[in-house]
Amino acid sequence: MEQKKLHYGDIVDLTIESTGFEGKSVARLDGLVIFVEGAVAGDVVKAKVLKAKKKHAEAKVIEVLSPSKERVALRCSYFGTCGGCKWQHVDYQSQLQFKHQHVIDAVERIGGIQDAAILPIIGSEKNYFYRNKLEFSFSDKEWIIEKPETTDDLSGSENNNSIALGFHVPQRWDKVLNIEECFLQSELSNEILNTVRAFAVEEHLPAYSQETQSGYFRNLVIREGKQTGDVMVNVVTFEDIPEAMKKLSGVLTKKFPEITTIINNVNRRKSQVAVGDFENVYYGEGIIHDKIGDKIFQISANSFFQTNTLQAEKLYAVAKEFADFRPTDVVYDLYCGTGSIAIYISDAVKQVIGIELVESSIQNAETNAHLNGIENCEFLCGDLKDLLTKETEWKERYASPNVIIVDPPRSGMHPDAVEELGKMKAPKIIYVSCNPATFARDAQMLSHYGYAVEKIQPVDMFPHTYHIECVGKLVLKSV
Ligand SMILES: C[S@@+](CC[C@H](N)C(=O)[O-])C[C@H]1O[C@@H](n2cnc3c(N)ncnc32)[C@H](O)[C@@H]1O
Repeated sequence: MEQKKLHYGDIVDLTIESTGFEGKSVARLDGLVIFVEGAVAGDVVKAKVLKAKKKHAEAKVIEVLSPSKERVALRCSYFGTCGGCKWQHVDYQSQLQFKHQHVIDAVERIGGIQDAAILPIIGSEKNYFYRNKLEFSFSDKEWIIEKPETTDDLSGSENNNSIALGFHVPQRWDKVLNIEECFLQSELSNEILNTVRAFAVEEHLPAYSQETQSGYFRNLVIREGKQTGDVMVNVVTFEDIPEAMKKLSGVLTKKFPEITTIINNVNRRKSQVAVGDFENVYYGEGIIHDKIGDKIFQISANSFFQTNTLQAEKLYAVAKEFADFRPTDVVYDLYCGTGSIAIYISDAVKQVIGIELVESSIQNAETNAHLNGIENCEFLCGDLKDLLTKETEWKERYASPNVIIVDPPRSGMHPDAVEELGKMKAPKIIYVSCNPATFARDAQMLSHYGYAVEKIQPVDMFPHTYHIECVGKLVLKSV
């Protein structure tokens, strides 16, 4: 059959067959595979072609002609425009099924792993208001979408000299949508967001402009201790204007007694990151606390902390159960971040050695260990690959590990680090992963060193996105 030729802008009717890579749904038109955004298996939709290539095309739903039984009503009016919650139109139980299947597919197809037990996915207790951190951006030009009633087209116009505070349009770092309500963090977070925007307008304090490199407000970052009730408001600005921040702090603390600290990060650089060259504290201690299990963690404005606190506890509990620690165990926690896994498991073992690239995270890890009265964790700073291949003196100070925990970034482990990990011959490796594809790739490599994947536990940390975490238990079968 001759394949249909599609062009940008073509409108096509499609029956959605399945869910594929990165949450995009899959349809076929005269043999041509089409990846469709905003659809779910079972839908019949009218879609607009956004990219047309020889072997496949990409399209976006503009109208649902016949809804799938897995489709649910949208909760948020910004769906399809703000870039978050790409699966909000899909029933949560179906989202979990897709994610579970994604783990199975990655493990089998990429890892060639056939006999591992893949346990039923652990869903998120809360599928809205689950995030403990949200980062909003300011812009001096609000992006107004021309056709808000459809999600096929994010083109629009700029409302010059306005103040927008919200999220970026997908893949457009220069375009900010005003957001008044988001269902990811809390009602309080929404009220703070709107109060800060209103303050900026009333006080005629301009948003930072990338074009002219002038202005004041850059970002608003709200962090909440979900288990402690602490609330941090971190205002990122281009200028350091203490009078403005004092006035804003007065407005916020009067209106929201829940706020426990207010910080101003001053970022004078061009780069659009919500991290300042320095920070000033205007209210409270400049830090908040949150809890995972019975351990308490100090969180400063720029420190890393797992975004879904309740699910992080489930993820760590799985890792601990899979490791089945003995009190005599020496454990390596590789890619340890701020030491939260090391600290969480510390009571169950003799010693934990954490390794992490970012120095400020190591400082946080040490503070957190101290805060919990823990003395059996040590943290080393450096690139894991180098610490395993070249700068290996540290190994002589510690006994060989009985269990190694790894929790790498989405890109997975460097092949040289996997090789060294394999050669260490620890009886158990617990691999915590935020990307099943790289987990499968690394597990496959570890099989050459005698490791077999015994079981895998998928855990959903980010409802309404296609992201999925999993914990794999690898055991050394042959030496
Ligand atoms: C997914 S996070 C894990 C954090 C931590 N286990 C937790 O649960 O909070 C991955 C961590 O790996 C660190 N990292 C990235 N590349 C690294 C490298 N080459 N060597 C050591 N650490 C690295 C990152 O800074 C980050 O803290």
